Amino acid sequence: MASSTFLSCSFICITILLFLVGFCSAEDPFANFDYVVSYITASPLGVPQQVIAVNGMFPGPTVNVTTNYNVVVNVKNKLDEDLLMHWSGIFMRKNSWQDGVLGTNCPIPPKWNWTYQFQVKDQIGSFYYFPSTNFQRASGGFGSIVVNNRDIIPIPFDTPYGDITIVIGDWYIRNHTALRRDLNSGKALGIPDGVLINGKGPYRYNDTLVPDGIDYEKIDVHPGKTYRIRVSNVGISTSLNFRIQNHNLLLAETEGSYTVQQNYSSLDIHVGQSYSFLVTMDQNASSDYYIVASARFVNESHWQKVIGVGILHYTNSKGKASGPLPDPPQDQFDKTFSMNQARSIRWNVTASGARPNPQGSFRYGSINVTEVYVLKNKPPVTINGKWRSTLSGISYANPVTPIRLADQYKVKDVYKLDFPTNPLTGPPRIAASIINGTYRGFMEVILQNNDTKMHSYHMSGYNFFVVGMDYGEWTENSRGTYNKWDGIARTTTQVFPGAWTVILVSLDNVGIWNLRTENLDSWYLGQETYVRVVNSEATNKTELPIPDNALFCGALSHLQKPQDISLATSITGNQSKSFLTLLLLISTLITTFR
Ligand SMILES: *[C@@H]1O[C@H](CO)[C@@H](O)[C@H](O)[C@H]1NC(C)=O
Ligand SMILES: *[C@@H]1O[C@H](CO)[C@@H](O)[C@H](O)[C@H]1NC(C)=O
Ligand SMILES: *[C@@H]1O[C@H](CO)[C@@H](O)[C@H](O)[C@H]1NC(C)=O
Ligand SMILES: *[C@@H]1O[C@H](CO)[C@@H](O)[C@H](O)[C@H]1NC(C)=O
Ligand SMILES: *[C@@H]1O[C@H](CO)[C@@H](O)[C@H](O)[C@H]1NC(C)=O
Ligand SMILES: *[C@@H]1O[C@H](CO)[C@@H](O)[C@H](O)[C@H]1NC(C)=O
Ligand SMILES: *[C@@H]1O[C@H](CO)[C@@H](O)[C@H](O)[C@H]1NC(C)=O
Ligand SMILES: *[C@@H]1O[C@H](CO)[C@@H](O)[C@H](O)[C@H]1NC(C)=O
Ligand SMILES: *[C@@H]1O[C@H](CO)[C@@H](O)[C@H](O)[C@H]1NC(C)=O
Ligand SMILES: *[C@@H]1O[C@H](CO)[C@@H](O)[C@H](O)[C@H]1NC(C)=O
Ligand SMILES: *[C@@H]1O[C@H](CO)[C@@H](O)[C@H](O)[C@H]1NC(C)=O
Ligand SMILES: *[C@@H]1O[C@H](CO)[C@@H](O)[C@H](O)[C@H]1NC(C)=O
Repeated sequence: MASSTFLSCSFICITILLFLVGFCSAEDPFANFDYVVSYITASPLGVPQQVIAVNGMFPGPTVNVTTNYNVVVNVKNKLDEDLLMHWSGIFMRKNSWQDGVLGTNCPIPPKWNWTYQFQVKDQIGSFYYFPSTNFQRASGGFGSIVVNNRDIIPIPFDTPYGDITIVIGDWYIRNHTALRRDLNSGKALGIPDGVLINGKGPYRYNDTLVPDGIDYEKIDVHPGKTYRIRVSNVGISTSLNFRIQNHNLLLAETEGSYTVQQNYSSLDIHVGQSYSFLVTMDQNASSDYYIVASARFVNESHWQKVIGVGILHYTNSKGKASGPLPDPPQDQFDKTFSMNQARSIRWNVTASGARPNPQGSFRYGSINVTEVYVLKNKPPVTINGKWRSTLSGISYANPVTPIRLADQYKVKDVYKLDFPTNPLTGPPRIAASIINGTYRGFMEVILQNNDTKMHSYHMSGYNFFVVGMDYGEWTENSRGTYNKWDGIARTTTQVFPGAWTVILVSLDNVGIWNLRTENLDSWYLGQETYVRVVNSEATNKTELPIPDNALFCGALSHLQKPQDISLATSITGNQSKSFLTLLLLISTLITTFR
C-alpha cells in the first residue's frame, strides 16, 4: 500500500534536509510521502457521494515506517476548505509543531501544500491519521499508520506471515458539510447509515438487509499461516464489536504497547482505538468466513442495517460464506462484560522496547503523582444560543491564533491557563481554557463520563497508563482499586457512560498537547482542551525550533508569505521533471542510433 515510500538515506539528501529544517538524527532513514487530499465520488453504501481521498484512495494509503524513521509528508490540499492532517498516536517528541491540530498549527488553505516532518522516535505500533478540522473525518481522509520494530529489536511473537491493516467506522451518506450543518443547528446526527470496513460497505449476507451491488472488502489469506491484523476504529461515535467467524483473535498490541497475549472471540473497539491481533488461519476452508464490525450498546432492532461485513477468503476456500453472522456478545443484562474485557487488556511488562515511555517511568506505580485533574463531560447543552459540548463545564473554542504559535511570538490574551482541577459547578461557558501542565510532572487524570453515551479520550504527545475504570462516581477511595503494575500504556481510552477511567501520564514531552474526546460530534462541539508543557529552563534541547515552513494565521497572519500556488500544484514536480529528462534522453538515443 505504501507505494510512495522513498528511503533517501543519501548523504546529500540528509544534508539538504538538515539544512532545511535544522534537526533530526542524521543516521536515521527518511521516508517521504506526497499526499494529495481531494474529493472523489464513491458509493460505499450503494449511493454515490463525495468522499475525501488521499492520492485518489479511500481510505488513504498506509504510512508504513520503522522506529526512529524521519517521516516527511508533503500534504497538498485540493479540498474547497481548510485542512490539517493529524497523525494520531505519533508522539511527536519535542515537536508539537507537527501535530496537525488547531492548537498547534494554522490550517492549510485550499490549493496550498504543507510539508510535515517528524520522527517516529522510540515507538512501535498501530495508529491512524485523519483530517482533524471541519468534521472532515466523517467524509474520509483517514488511513493506517504502522510503525514497525527495528530488525535488532525482538518482538514478543513469531514473525507473522503477513501484515494486514483494517480501518472500521460508522458512516453516513450525508457528507461532512451536511453533518456539520446539523450539529451547528443543534440537531443530533442520528443513527449512521452503515459501518464501513476499509471504506467498503457490507457483504450481502442477507438479501433483505443489504441491497445488491455493494462492493465489500475481501481479505485473501493462506491456510495455516498466522497474520497480524491491525484494526482501527476511525468512525464518528459508534463503538464497534470486531470479530471473525470461527477464528480466534489473539490480542498482541494496542497503540504502541505489546499486551499480555490473550484469545478473544470478539473485541470492542471504541472510536479512535487501534489493536493488533494475531490470527491463525486454522480452519478447514469449507467456505469463506465473515469479518464483522457491529455497533455496541444499541437497540438491535433499530440498527439491523448498520453493520459492517467483510470476507476472509482462504486461497483453498471451497465456497462462499453463508448463513447467519457470528453472534455479538450476549451481554444485554450484563453491563460489566465490556468493561471487564477492557480491564483484561494488560501490558506485557517483560516484552522488549521500543518503550513508549522514557526509561524508568514504566514502573509507574511507584511514581508520586504531582497534579490531579478531574475532567467531567456532560451531554451537549445550549450556551449563548449555541449547541455545545463541555468538559468540566467548559466548552473549548479554538482561538484564531494557534496556542503554540501565540506562545512563540508572545501574542497576549489568546488563551487562559486556567482549566479547573475539578469540574466547574456554575453555568457552563465557552472559552479557550487550557491545562497548565508541569514539565516532568506526573499527572493523574480522572475522566468521568456523565453522558449517556460511550466516549473515548485521546491525548496527543504521550502514551498514558490506564490504571482503573469503574461505574459510578470516582472518589479518593477508588485509588485503592488501581492497577499499579501492568496497566496498558496507550493513547486512547474508553470511558463508559456513567463511569470513570483514570489515566496517569508522565509530562516529559514539551509542547502543546490536545486532550479530547474522540467522538467526533462532541469534539466538534467543544469537548476538548490542551495541556501546555513548558520547560522554564532556557534551553533548545527539550523542544525543536519552529519549522521554517510554519504557516501563520490569526494575529500573526501578517507574517505569512503568499504561497506560489502554481509551483505547489505539482508537488510531484521533481519526479515528473526527471521522467521528462529520461524520456528526452531515450528519444535522443533512439534518434542517434537510428
Ligand atoms: C455535501 O452535500 C451537500 C448536500 O447535502 C452538497 O450541496 C455539497 O456539495 C456536498 N459537499 C461536498 C464537498 O461534497
Ligand atoms: C510545498 O511543496 C513544495 C514542492 O514540493 C515545497 O518546495 C514547499 O516547501 C512546500 N511548502 C510548504 C509550506 O511545505
Ligand atoms: C511477554 O513478552 C515476552 C518477551 O517477548 C514473551 O516471551 C512472553 O511470551 C510474553 N507474554 C505474554 C503473556 O504474552
Ligand atoms: C510494511 O512494509 C514492509 C516492507 O515492505 C512489509 O513487509 C509489510 O508487510 C508492510 N506492512 C504493512 C502493514 O503494509
Ligand atoms: C434477513 O433479515 C431479515 C430481517 O432481519 C430476517 O427476517 C430474515 O430472516 C433474514 N434472512 C436470512 C436468510 O437470514
Ligand atoms: C489461542 O487460541 C489458539 C487456537 O486458536 C491456541 O492454539 C492458543 O494456544 C491460544 N493462545 C492463548 C494464549 O490462549
Ligand atoms: C469443516 O468444518 C466444519 C465445521 O467446523 C464442518 O462442518 C465441516 O464438515 C468440515 N469440512 C471438512 C471438509 O472437513
Ligand atoms: C428496541 O426498540 C423497539 C422498537 O422501538 C422496542 O420495542 C424495544 O423495546 C427496544 N428494546 C430495548 C431493549 O430497548
Ligand atoms: C513519594 O513521596 C513520598 C512521601 O510523600 C516519599 O517518601 C517518596 O520518596 C516519594 N517517592 C518518590 C519516588 O519520589
Ligand atoms: C503554571 O504552573 C507552573 C508550575 O508548573 C507555575 O509556576 C505557574 O505559575 C503556573 N501558571 C499559571 C498561570 O497558573
Ligand atoms: C451525572 O452526574 C449526576 C450528578 O453527580 C449524577 O446524579 C448522575 O447519575 C450522573 N449521570 C451519569 C450518566 O453519569
Ligand atoms: C535557541 O535557539 C535560538 C535560535 O536558533 C537562539 O536564538 C537562542 O539563543 C537559543 N537559546 C539557547 C538558550 O540556546
